[in-house]
Amino acid sequence: TNIGVLVSGRGSNLQSIIDHVESGYLKDIKLSVVISDVKDAFALERAKMYGINAVFIDPHAYESKMGFEEKIIATLKDYNVDLVLLAGYMRILGSEVIRAYRDRIMNIHPALLPSFKGLHGPRQALEYGVKVAGCTVHFVDEGVDSGPIILQSCVSVKDNDTESTLASRILEQEHRIFPEAIKLFTEGKLKVDGRIVLRREN
Ligand code: GRF
Repeated sequence: TNIGVLVSGRGSNLQSIIDHVESGYLKDIKLSVVISDVKDAFALERAKMYGINAVFIDPHAYESKMGFEEKIIATLKDYNVDLVLLAGYMRILGSEVIRAYRDRIMNIHPALLPSFKGLHGPRQALEYGVKVAGCTVHFVDEGVDSGPIILQSCVSVKDNDTESTLASRILEQEHRIFPEAIKLFTEGKLKVDGRIVLRREN
């Protein structure tokens, strides 16, 4: 499986995926390209450190969102990508890319969907007062954080949690379930049936 990773920031999820490839937990995959919409994203530096192709695509260099999205698709095709990961990619992916990679785009979201979609999942959870928070890996559809759920993991919310302590406890779980979802995908164990993702055993 050739993997393309879309990023915008520090890339700790990218790092975790790299680590899981290096440890042998993820087999038969190649991190083919990391694409960032932010020029100085640290995720691009991480990619370079590991000899992974790192590409900056400037969203402001295109007259329309369509042009930008077409460049993303062309880049993914250049690198023969068959699975796309959104790992801290802070833009809403357009329908062009989604159609080109239907059921082959995964996003990691720092909340237990369908609660707390959009930005600042941990903050939304704290402000709402939930006692269980967590993260979700899901396939990407045309909505925002609305696609079929692959894996979730939860953490307890503590009385003295701040946004940052809760977010970092959730992040640990992100670093665990994103590689797990990728493994299931690459082993052909995921089947999407409408909203439901079935996980085939063994
Ligand atoms: C993570 O919290 C992820 O859930 C969200 O954006 C953040 C990315 O962090 N989508 P990183 O760039 O992987 O460190």
